[in-house]
Amino acid sequence: MMRMTLKDLAKKFDAKEKITMVTIYDASFATAAEQAGVDILFIGDSLGMTVQGHDSPLPVTVDDMVYHTRAVVRGSKQGFVISDLPFGAYHESPAQAFHSAAQLMRAGANMVKLEGGAVMAEAVEFLVKRGIPVCGHLGLTPQSYNALGGFRVQGKSDEGAQQLISDAKTLQSAGMSMVVLEAVPATLGKQVTESLTMPTIGIGAGPDCSGQVLLAYDLLDIFPGKKAKFVKNFMATGGNVSAAFANFVKEVKAGTFPGPEHCY
Ligand code: KIV
Repeated sequence: MMRMTLKDLAKKFDAKEKITMVTIYDASFATAAEQAGVDILFIGDSLGMTVQGHDSPLPVTVDDMVYHTRAVVRGSKQGFVISDLPFGAYHESPAQAFHSAAQLMRAGANMVKLEGGAVMAEAVEFLVKRGIPVCGHLGLTPQSYNALGGFRVQGKSDEGAQQLISDAKTLQSAGMSMVVLEAVPATLGKQVTESLTMPTIGIGAGPDCSGQVLLAYDLLDIFPGKKAKFVKNFMATGGNVSAAFANFVKEVKAGTFPGPEHCY
């Protein structure tokens, strides 16, 4: 089977099929996730915490992302691959963003993801015009956790919500083709989704997003410590890795995950 393309994802979006995405970092999990029907294999800079043991994603480098992207690409045949631009690798200038993104695309990514609002529009346009599709990330943006005062829910005030909607529209106009919404009220997740023509992929952003993402280490209950409200342990009912991924896909496609208990 051919690897999924942006067009295939757009068809799912147009057909109102929920899009499934899982953060993974290696070949074995890539195989298991795509065999369970996960649409998007995402290599996240969360690997700074889950794999490297740091307390934030800030120490992760482009070289780290290239290494893990290559592993995921080698372990998969059909999943659409998105790779995270790490902290400090795209903020200086559009040219710096292109240089970093090109390394991830050379490693086999089909799209790159970056965090930030309207300030990133110039970089997004620069990448898209040069053939690199871009996914955004709004709400709780972990690379800015120092400025945000920790890993906290975003967009709770009217002003914050309006800013997020405006940022999402600006980025869409710059050519962005998808956006991750993290830790925002479910009502805002719905509002943003209804304001855009590109898919929204929620993680703690309510059931009305166009799709959902979880970290494999969270849905398989591997990562120790306090769980975010949006995390569901799919291992508890699945019993093994393949069944856990398959149940995640089944519940997202059916619209039963996330439930009210996973929402802000
Ligand atoms: O790094 C990561 O795993 C992420 C997800 C929260 C989407 O950015």
